[in-house]
Amino acid sequence: NKKKIAVLVGSLRKESFNRKVAKQLIQLAPDSLELEIVEIGKLPHYDEDIDQNPPAEYVDFRNKVKAADGVLFVTPEYNRSIPGVLKNAIDVGSRPYGQSVWGGKPGAVVSVSVSPIGGFGANHILRQSMVFLDVPMMQQPEGYIGGAHTLFDEKGVLVNDDTRAFLKRYMDAYASWVNSF
Ligand code: FNR
Repeated sequence: NKKKIAVLVGSLRKESFNRKVAKQLIQLAPDSLELEIVEIGKLPHYDEDIDQNPPAEYVDFRNKVKAADGVLFVTPEYNRSIPGVLKNAIDVGSRPYGQSVWGGKPGAVVSVSVSPIGGFGANHILRQSMVFLDVPMMQQPEGYIGGAHTLFDEKGVLVNDDTRAFLKRYMDAYASWVNSF
């Protein structure tokens, strides 16, 4: 019985390095995990008023996360924080009050940046919300991917073997983390 993992990507652009890394992580994951990207770009801004009669996008997103056994975040850093679109998805999943879809699902975060700092700020700000939402986050290895623009060729193929080896190790560790629950 494979564990289902919802993968949330914090960038919407077509050529996103984060999406490319997310696809690599999915490819490199061990057989015990079944990963699927859950799209977040069409979620209306969270609004408690419209949530009185929740739009289909909210319902669908919540159901997809609910059906997952774990959550893997792959996110850029925007102004030393996470992109608004990812925070919005986290907020949508956390409501209505008392019906959060996040609680107890083993999580992990990989931050991907063109900067050598590797999205450290976004990585840890995401962890702050996950403490409150009771998502047990994998601690080690930490996933900071810097210099993202140097890792892929024009066809989007990962050309850095050290990064591939690291991403493989990361997914092996995450599978162990998920299977320990
Ligand atoms: C950025 N970028 C960025 N990078 C970083 O390391 N720290 C930061 O605080 C920011 N801030 C920031 C704000 C905004 C609004 C944008 C659009 C970008 C650069 C970022 O790392 C780069 O655009 C990545 O390529 C974004 O990831 P994707 O879209 O390639 O997945």
